[in-house]
Amino acid sequence: MASFRAMSSATNCIPYSSSFSSKKSSFSNNRRNPVVKVTCKDRIGDHRPETTSKNGENSQGTLDRRDVLLGLGGLYSTSLAANPMALAKPALPDFKDCVEATQSNDVPINCCPPAATRIKDYVPSATTIRTRMDAQSITVDSDYYQKYSAAIQKMRNLSPADPRNFRQQANVHCAYCVGGYTLQGNPQLLYEIHGSWLFFPWHRWYLYFFEKICQNLIDDDTFVLPFWNWDAPGGMQIPPMYNSIVTSPLYDCLRNPDHLPPSVINLEWSDGDPTVPPNDQIKYNLAIMYAQMITQSKTPTDFFGSPYRAGDDITTLDGAGQIEQTPHNNVHSWTGTVVDSSNPINMGALYSAARDPIFFAHHANIDRLWTIWLNQLKGTNFTDPDWLNAYFIFYNEEAKPVRVKIQDCLDTSKLGYTYEDVPIPWLDVSAKSTPRATAKTLPSAPDPSQIFPTTLDNPINVIVERPKNSGSGSSEEILIIEGIEYDKGNYVKFNVYINEDDVNACHPDNTEFLGSFSSLPHGHGMNVRTNKRFRISEVLEELGAQDYDRVLVTLVPKSTPVTINGVRIEFES
Ligand code: C2O
Repeated sequence: MASFRAMSSATNCIPYSSSFSSKKSSFSNNRRNPVVKVTCKDRIGDHRPETTSKNGENSQGTLDRRDVLLGLGGLYSTSLAANPMALAKPALPDFKDCVEATQSNDVPINCCPPAATRIKDYVPSATTIRTRMDAQSITVDSDYYQKYSAAIQKMRNLSPADPRNFRQQANVHCAYCVGGYTLQGNPQLLYEIHGSWLFFPWHRWYLYFFEKICQNLIDDDTFVLPFWNWDAPGGMQIPPMYNSIVTSPLYDCLRNPDHLPPSVINLEWSDGDPTVPPNDQIKYNLAIMYAQMITQSKTPTDFFGSPYRAGDDITTLDGAGQIEQTPHNNVHSWTGTVVDSSNPINMGALYSAARDPIFFAHHANIDRLWTIWLNQLKGTNFTDPDWLNAYFIFYNEEAKPVRVKIQDCLDTSKLGYTYEDVPIPWLDVSAKSTPRATAKTLPSAPDPSQIFPTTLDNPINVIVERPKNSGSGSSEEILIIEGIEYDKGNYVKFNVYINEDDVNACHPDNTEFLGSFSSLPHGHGMNVRTNKRFRISEVLEELGAQDYDRVLVTLVPKSTPVTINGVRIEFES
């Protein structure tokens, strides 16, 4: 199988595609007001050399706003008459102005795609369904590995200006999350596909076109991406095909050297966490999956994240859904953070994450969790037209720009794929967390009003009053950590416990561990103020605390400090 073991360290590592240099920005990036001013010259493509695609067509040009607006007019004019809800406005990126953003330490980075003209609407209609396989079961002597590595190698070999080039593909992710675009209609606001209900569908479409490009380059339409099955014990390591051969195009030397196989992934990983025996870690991971997918994900907003519409400021939304934070963010930072949390590499920071080929297997698993939430857990998609009508632009396998809507990615059979049916051990109630201790005497602690606002630089205990149930409306109690403020350029994480008198003795498979808040570094500075919600009715019942008037809440910082403005409990609205 593996020909030789990877020896990696960040210091002697020369990653693939390191030859791209970032053009020095002529824009200033003001942390308080990060949107840069755009001159009329800075349209999509102005940052890239003129090129010719494989088909001999010139890919250079200017994205004419009329292409987008005309398309929109056509789409909306027919639906408006029939459906007044079509007046609603999704959050859309302003494609005409892609601007340079900044990566870590304020270094400018240009992630803008080549210029696009004649953007066509695209609706998939696959007639054949292929099965995305569990990456862990794929060996480096298999035909599949040969095809996959050939596709990625061909992508890497394309002209740097070809939108299908591997680095260009990684930059698509960067542009959509690191301030490459502003919000249509509100040029003072940045557009972003993390931290809202855009997270799942945007990444589904991104993988779809990445997979199509792979198929095209190896001339094999049966090829599909693998998924990194980190939610089942057999998949809780970096899969062999990404790690075994250092000369493989699937290898990335910018991964945390402490987390290479046989290290077991920690789905609640925080920098500095001690390593625990593999079987304990597996048990914790399954409990985390149960909590995130089942206990904490009851509604579309819980699962997908908060609505994001035209005019919304992404920095003040309630933000990411449960899955985007845990496990998604933690798989990124576990894979790609070294030394300390201020030093993330490839997978550990959003601007660079998709430079590591494992990104696409990680996101295939995230995408698979969406199908599990709908099919096995009977979750439902949003039906809000502002979600369904939101659209994105990608380059397809022929290097042509296409515009795709969320409503057209909801049925994966139309996209031509499904997921291998592998065991899902966390679905079983035996995976569920159990109380560490019952009938504890809780320590006394101050009331939130005595503490907040404060900087979370040390663990904080507060006693929080529960609301009285009037007998009408919902009786589901929600714990809200309010007004979490931080700079989006930083890695941020803190853990939350309930009725726990000894957080050091409490593990993720204990009911007292509620979960965490996390945000991956985006590259650019941007001040955020958001909230984090946890469902606690079921948790309190399991802890035998359903009749208590008050609960103890403990916040434990795991990163650079954030400011917290309050903690309270309310009934679900
Ligand atoms: Cu767009 Cu896993 O991030």
